[in-house]
Amino acid sequence: MGFVTSDLQETQPKRLLKFFWLVLALLVLGFVHVHQGSKWYVFTTGWPDSTLGRGYSAGDVVFTSCAALTDKPVPRDVDCGVIFVPKNYFDKHAGLSGIAFARRKSENKIQKKGTVFLNPGGPGGSGVLEVLAPEKMWGQHRIPTMIGPNYDVIGFDIRGVAFTRPKTECLNEDEKALFHANTVLEQGFTVSNPLNASKDALKAELVPQYRQFLALKQVQSQICAERMGDELNHFFGASYGTILGSYLVNMFPERIGRVVIDGVATPDLWSTTLNHKWPHKWLVDAEATFERFLRDCAAAGPSRCALAQFPNQPWDHIRDRIDAYFDDLALHPLPLPSGSRPGYLTSGLARSTLYIGIEIPKLWPKWASLFGGALSGDARPLYDFAIRQAIGGYDYARTAVSCADAPESNDVDFPTPEDLAEEAVRTISEVSPRFGVSIEFSEPDGGCQFWPYRSPGRFSGPWNATLATPMLIVSNTLDPITPKANGLWVHEQMPNSSLMLIQDGPGHTAMSMDSACTFEAIHNYFAGILPRNGTVCLVDEPDTFSEEGLSDGYALDRLIKR
Ligand SMILES: *[C@@H]1O[C@H](CO)[C@@H](O)[C@H](O)[C@H]1NC(C)=O
Ligand SMILES: *[C@@H]1O[C@H](CO)[C@@H](O)[C@H](O)[C@H]1NC(C)=O
Ligand SMILES: *[C@@H]1O[C@H](CO)[C@@H](O)[C@H](O)[C@H]1NC(C)=O
Ligand SMILES: *[C@@H]1O[C@H](CO)[C@@H](O)[C@H](O)[C@H]1NC(C)=O
Repeated sequence: MGFVTSDLQETQPKRLLKFFWLVLALLVLGFVHVHQGSKWYVFTTGWPDSTLGRGYSAGDVVFTSCAALTDKPVPRDVDCGVIFVPKNYFDKHAGLSGIAFARRKSENKIQKKGTVFLNPGGPGGSGVLEVLAPEKMWGQHRIPTMIGPNYDVIGFDIRGVAFTRPKTECLNEDEKALFHANTVLEQGFTVSNPLNASKDALKAELVPQYRQFLALKQVQSQICAERMGDELNHFFGASYGTILGSYLVNMFPERIGRVVIDGVATPDLWSTTLNHKWPHKWLVDAEATFERFLRDCAAAGPSRCALAQFPNQPWDHIRDRIDAYFDDLALHPLPLPSGSRPGYLTSGLARSTLYIGIEIPKLWPKWASLFGGALSGDARPLYDFAIRQAIGGYDYARTAVSCADAPESNDVDFPTPEDLAEEAVRTISEVSPRFGVSIEFSEPDGGCQFWPYRSPGRFSGPWNATLATPMLIVSNTLDPITPKANGLWVHEQMPNSSLMLIQDGPGHTAMSMDSACTFEAIHNYFAGILPRNGTVCLVDEPDTFSEEGLSDGYALDRLIKR
């Protein structure tokens, strides 16, 4: 588990599919605190081994070659390295972690205004790659371009993730594939006829699936504990993108310069409420986003949307066909003997795969092709994609972080299979019948009662810090996982220290669609011009099934592996 070059190449992080968490936080810290006496080193090759940590002290910064981290050409103005920090701020003897970073240097050396720290969330997304290899992943704009030339931009990988060491390594890829295959971790949770079934029937169907789920989570936790031991204790106790932003703002308000959070998850739920309770609040716009997908598809017609069977087909016909397909799969899982792996498509897997697509409007034409194919009898491409993403997208770093942040077993009653089913049925019947139990975080964030560690010194609020410059909060009108209501909640906690920017469009995070207006507002914010609170930005191209969308290079593979 070293920082040697070969190790890094083997463990290139997967392009994670935790889109619902791929929230964004951009932070300008008033100053970067590197304690006195810290040293800066320069290595020209390789990646220093933080687990040895010999000769380094907390606060030391080691610059090294970016070429070890990517097989793509390294941009000229980017450098890479690690900063050593204590594994445990409350225990000096616990050793050091090496936090990996990539820095894009300010073009404007004379008027440099500071440094923006970038974390793409996930949990598990690599901030290093976001700076080092900024592909056109979500929207059009490279984030560093949006921030502008007057700042250094530092992307970093939080503890346990990507190039930071130690890394979460519980099962290798082959073991993971075997362990997950044909279990609820891969197949998702199946509910029959969720639009019309009785609550008792739904609950009866879910309880056995949750029994299996908890047993698998217990195995996972035990394996991680055996193989990682105390290292699991040292994950950053504050997480992901906007959560990270909210934590920092509220823990160190005097050190924060400018902060943008986009696609907001609510930090109170994250820190004080068990994860099975989150969907009831976070899925409030999921059905409306799905409806938008269907309406755009119907309007595009069969030439651009493969789910439409004929021009001017009513959108609700398309919806009813999809519902009927899921209900049929629930009764008759589809055998798929040939192809990448023999298996069978379950309703749970098909439904959760659809949900992932709803989060990313740029992929809607491709998603319509996957599902259009399945509905007309060829489910193989959908199945092959779905099982690859179910394994590739699953990572234990996420479990390590969310469980390290979770309430302690002593403080709360963790849910039984019956409780989990009850809560799922509540979300299905009150919030989202189609996706209430079919979102990925039903899985990686659960089962924390078995997780052996909690972060030392967890922060759990309050969330009402006073800031010198208001934080910019960005929410979409149709975000299926981090609804506008979440952004407004964070804003209401600090009405005089934050501003709302609403992007009128679908998708998870504003970056999922192109909007020159949003781009400009964020660019100006970093240049010192605050947008008016409540500014509404339109998206540039509201037609999500445009010709360009079909041909654009959003290969499905990109979702699984960079
Ligand atoms: C729901 O149930 C009612 C009554 O049992 C039935 O008339 C209706 O067709 C069902 N709808 C769907 C979508 O299954
Ligand atoms: C922030 O919230 C806490 C807890 O609700 C409260 O005690 C405190 O007075 C609030 N601070 C400000 C500045 O409003
Ligand atoms: C926000 O500012 C207004 C006007 O100055 C003030 O009345 C109000 O108490 C402030 N609210 C908070 C939560 O600080
Ligand atoms: C800021 O804008 C949001 C969204 O329009 C609104 O709900 C909120 O009340 C506004 N806040 C203030 C302090 O005016």
